[in-house]
Amino acid sequence: MAVLVLGGAGYIGSHAVDRLIENGYDVVVVDNLVTGHVAAINKKARFYEGDVRDKEFLNGVFEKEDIEGVIHFAAFSVVPESMEKPLKYFDNNNGGMISLLEVMHDHDVKFIVFSSTAATYGEPKQIPIKETDPQVPTNPYGESKLAMEKIMHWSDVAYGIKFVALRYFNVAGAKSDGSIGEDHSPETHLVPIILQVASGEREQLTIFGDDYDTKDGTNVRDYVHVVDLADAHILALEYLKKGNDSQAFNLGSSTGFSNKEMLEAAREVTGKEIPAEMGPRRAGDPSTLIASSEKARSVLGWNPQFDDVKEIIKTAWNWKMSHPKGYNDREGK
Ligand code: UFG
Repeated sequence: MAVLVLGGAGYIGSHAVDRLIENGYDVVVVDNLVTGHVAAINKKARFYEGDVRDKEFLNGVFEKEDIEGVIHFAAFSVVPESMEKPLKYFDNNNGGMISLLEVMHDHDVKFIVFSSTAATYGEPKQIPIKETDPQVPTNPYGESKLAMEKIMHWSDVAYGIKFVALRYFNVAGAKSDGSIGEDHSPETHLVPIILQVASGEREQLTIFGDDYDTKDGTNVRDYVHVVDLADAHILALEYLKKGNDSQAFNLGSSTGFSNKEMLEAAREVTGKEIPAEMGPRRAGDPSTLIASSEKARSVLGWNPQFDDVKEIIKTAWNWKMSHPKGYNDREGK
């Protein structure tokens, strides 16, 4: 039987596909290639190009393949874009989840591991954030993912489709051999932007706000390595296959780094000057996000290998150095 990975050509999805294959799973990938790259998909996976909102297409995949469970990465995920285009987020993210669950229900597929986010918590009341803390998103992206969690909950109640919602904090890094990595266009995330400046592709970094109530005034985030994150999906799938109940888990390192600290760490790793300026706050940014990942460690047995932010940046830098133009190097664009 196969695991279906929706969004398996994207940054996190492609690392999950890779780890699934390394662990002996049979993998089917669905991706509409709006943000994903064919070259990112491990060659041992079977790939179907199409959109998760297209029920007919999805139904065809479920008819052709013997799917035992689904891992869902097929969502838009850029906080600032969601502030400008909220309906795009609700259409793709929520519409996609509904059509997927309908098709899963039709085909009696009972397990889904879902890529959720720390953005579902909004501005936290306490740090570190626990899974039981209030979820009050400050942007449409987080709101759409919270709604996806709720849609899964009610589908569990009605149809017995069991889910694990993995609430990611800030994901960075790349597979250690540099063969796959992060390639967004346009890039909005801090680590790849810093590395674009380090490599000379971008003139300077603008840090969005230094008047937050944090150690140095800049936002604090909790960074987790993409391969550690990918492994958590495999543990979550196995957890569901054992007959356990639906659950949500935070995935982070339980340590916070400010934007200024990330810049300093990247200067050390790359040996580059990395010019930076202070700019105004970016809409929708919570001040501090740090996870309590205790539950994922104790219940799933998650044991992240990367606990040093410099090591995370180093793997992202390795990918950047070996693929200065991202996947375009391979796709001949
Ligand atoms: N930042 C800058 N300059 C930039 C880009 C980012 O200062 O050019 C800052 C942001 O303001 C923020 C921090 O860097 O303070 C991290 O920003 P990212 O855009 O890299 O990531 P976000 O924290 O906005 O969001 C990420 C994921 C979300 C997830 C969230 C949870 O994209 O999906 O982490 O922590 F919900």
